[in-house]
Amino acid sequence: MLDKIKKHLQDIENTIVTDAKELEVFRVNYLGSKGLLKGFFNEFKNIPNEHKKEFGKTLNDFKKSAQGKFDELQQKIQSSGVKKESPQLDLTLPGYPVNVGSRHPVSIIINEMNDIFSKIGFIIKESFEIEDDWHNFSALNFPEEHPARDMQDTFFIESKIKQALRTHTSSVQVRVMENEQPPIRIIAPGRVFRNEAISARSHCIFHQVEGLYIDKNVSFADMKQTLLYFAKEFFGKAKIRLRPSYFPFTEPSAEMDVYWGLETEVDHKITKGTGWLEVLGCGMVDPNVLDNCGIDSKIYSGYAFGIGVERIAMQRFNIPDIRMIFENDVRFLKQFTQVV
Ligand code: DAH
Repeated sequence: MLDKIKKHLQDIENTIVTDAKELEVFRVNYLGSKGLLKGFFNEFKNIPNEHKKEFGKTLNDFKKSAQGKFDELQQKIQSSGVKKESPQLDLTLPGYPVNVGSRHPVSIIINEMNDIFSKIGFIIKESFEIEDDWHNFSALNFPEEHPARDMQDTFFIESKIKQALRTHTSSVQVRVMENEQPPIRIIAPGRVFRNEAISARSHCIFHQVEGLYIDKNVSFADMKQTLLYFAKEFFGKAKIRLRPSYFPFTEPSAEMDVYWGLETEVDHKITKGTGWLEVLGCGMVDPNVLDNCGIDSKIYSGYAFGIGVERIAMQRFNIPDIRMIFENDVRFLKQFTQVV
């Protein structure tokens, strides 16, 4: 009998199972209610007394061994089971979509302008969107009764000092000139606000890029060359014209048009049949403005220009309604994914 048990002990040691079914066969065989262990215990009473001790010990070894093996095999099957349930790598499955963001059309235009002017030494400056009367109007030579100060054009803010949402980025000129001495060469992109009715062509929020160059002996011809360079780089057009205009902060003042051509129907549409596209306002900085900002107008002169961003973005991307630019409808915005 002892030999029989010892042989089973050997078998237990050598048992290998590959799944839960085989493990159950092992359990029933060795540890089940009709299994070998139970059978051997039943034999115990028939064992002569002098052998009982040895038989008992062997039986205990058998029990420990069978139970130990069972636990070990169960553990193995469970852990391999976890592996089986974990997802298998299926290379045919579609990947997770990568949502590529897009630049806002206004940012695309501003970045491009920043790059173009940076190449010729202009430094980018930004300043406050809430301005006081001095920086937005007075320092820029706006007379006290100028209509732009009117409630209809400007969003005033109720505060102790007279403040407003800036109506143009020309206020950045003033801030820079107050703090720096020439040579000054800056462009100032930013958001501006006007108390205007919203329609397809106009909005109470829009963007401008302001330019300013102050140094000794800066002339109108310098301005013209810089603006021609911009027209070439930005629009790929080589012909500009400067029409006389008026701004309180420049003298003389001009509007710059780019010659677009009149070849296609679209050319006719965007130039209103003239072939010329109005692009920006500019002029020689009024000596009063220089003096207001602490720059000696007897020594220095300079030019400034201001470009409206939205109109150019609308023309570039064929956007029919300015409101689309501010609605931030993803269906609109994601069309710019391909544009750098
Ligand atoms: N500030 C003007 C506007 O809002 C734009 C402008 C025109 C800026 C001429 C300038 C300039 O610096 O010289 O309409």
